[in-house]
Amino acid sequence: MDAEAYEQEALDAIARASSPEELDAARVRYLGRRSELRLALREVRDRETGMELNRVRSAIEDAFERKEEVLTSASGARALEATIDITLPGDRLPRGHLHPITQIRREVEDAFLGLGYHVRYDREIETTEYNFDKLEFPPWHHARSPRATFFLNGDVVLRTETSPSQILEMEEHEPPIYMVSIGRCYRRDTIDATHYPIFHQFEGLAIDRGITLADLKGTLLHVMRALFGEDRALRFRTHYFPFTEPSIEPDVSCGICGGKGCRTCRYSGWLEMGGAGMVDPAVLENGRIDPEEWSGFAFGCGLERVAQLRHSIPDIRVLWENDLRVLRQF
Ligand code: PHE
Repeated sequence: MDAEAYEQEALDAIARASSPEELDAARVRYLGRRSELRLALREVRDRETGMELNRVRSAIEDAFERKEEVLTSASGARALEATIDITLPGDRLPRGHLHPITQIRREVEDAFLGLGYHVRYDREIETTEYNFDKLEFPPWHHARSPRATFFLNGDVVLRTETSPSQILEMEEHEPPIYMVSIGRCYRRDTIDATHYPIFHQFEGLAIDRGITLADLKGTLLHVMRALFGEDRALRFRTHYFPFTEPSIEPDVSCGICGGKGCRTCRYSGWLEMGGAGMVDPAVLENGRIDPEEWSGFAFGCGLERVAQLRHSIPDIRVLWENDLRVLRQF
């Protein structure tokens, strides 16, 4: 046999093999037990031929080994490519988002944090002392009635507003005070498009030297613009609350008609945004703060109301039904 020609033929076959199967076939053919090379080796009589044939065998074996490595790693990569197209976008995992009330709560928090206020969350079960007495509710006030308020017993209620936070804050901190309290409140309201027995309020309280109604107006204007847009205007109407003197109700200009008058604002051009006023000196005293040295303002506003106006939600009940078809829209 021509050893050199055999070697060349084998190396060519190895080079041509394009799959592990083709390479195996070539191995059987050129190195197998019945290959020409093996037969020749068995018949070797002289030392020189033996050495030459063994050199050819190990040269062919080396070539097989190298090619095998190339083919198996390449075929591995090809097999992967056949099942996974790594250029396709992945499967999207379903991902929820925050409830509209939570979104608005966070916006309110951001607006006040930007003004240097700190945020607090207080208990929802409150004593009549903190929910009413220290806020100077007169004994005859209708909110003290079990028809209006959820009583757990004679002097424990579900808080009807976030205003008890005013007292809690004053008792815990020396002025100057700049705080906003956010959370759930409860009233025995009949459910309709704008009422629900559970709702959320945010309550601001600022106490410092020389605070006036002008500070209240500037603060509310800033927050209302943060929530509803820079072009909004604010006006005050006189009102009554037991714990503020004077008391006012702030209105923000209607964003749907731009103040000209439409159905949403009942053709007034203005939207009611809650209650506010200067903290009554008696309330400051209840919070152990000297009204001769300090003055302050407070305001309260419903988060549901903000959500309804922001998103034109006609019925407040959808905020409690947890219907994903509704909630996904916000
Ligand atoms: N607590 C009042 C309400 O729920 C709102 C309010 C807060 C008014 C703070 C004045 C000052 O109606």
